[in-house]
Amino acid sequence: MAVTKDVLLGVGGGIAAYKLAFLASRLVQRGHRVRVAMTPRACEFVGPLTFEGLTGRKVILSSTQVDADGTAPHLEAAKAAAVYVVAPATADLLAKLAFGAADDPVSLLATTCRCPIVVCPAMNDAMWTSAVVQQNVATLCARGWQLLGPVKGHLAEGYDAIGRMVEPEAIAEAIGRVLGAARG
Ligand SMILES: Cc1cc2nc3c(=O)[nH]c(=O)nc-3n(C[C@H](O)[C@H](O)[C@H](O)COP(=O)(O)O)c2cc1C
Repeated sequence: MAVTKDVLLGVGGGIAAYKLAFLASRLVQRGHRVRVAMTPRACEFVGPLTFEGLTGRKVILSSTQVDADGTAPHLEAAKAAAVYVVAPATADLLAKLAFGAADDPVSLLATTCRCPIVVCPAMNDAMWTSAVVQQNVATLCARGWQLLGPVKGHLAEGYDAIGRMVEPEAIAEAIGRVLGAARG
């Protein structure tokens, strides 16, 4: 039987951001409570209203946001989360996560969450294979965060190469595995 859990989604400013709407919908259909945080750049790719419609909850849009009930979502949502998924994790976000930035809500939540963190990178092959991105990824893995993808496949630039974000269905499966492991 499916167990309801709080799933926190941190959406970055990459072309694959639109796929997170499908993921949010799928998680809600599976019975999870889903809260979404978006970086300012992510909002240029997909509108917060889409996620608010799908999850029935206000999107966290700022590192200084206070909700209508007076609570700070970077604390409350982090406390409630059973898993935090960052996707698409852009090269910029990976760098911020690696050094512990907290000036956007997605990065900030990574510093306040105590739950498992799953990072789903997405970028073109040049960015993904660059030394600095690989260094940042190694830092996150050494910290115990789970890296999911990227995979080889069609990139937005119009050719096949490494860098494509894993599909939302695969992210949903990974979330299920993390939640199952946490349940013991
Ligand atoms: C059309 C377009 C698509 C982009 N896609 C990606 C991407 O898939 N991965 C990435 O790392 N950067 C991508 N970028 C660059 C990011 O948007 C940029 O680095 C941004 O500052 C990242 O913001 P974030 O930290 O909120 O994720 C793209 C830029 C444009 C204009």
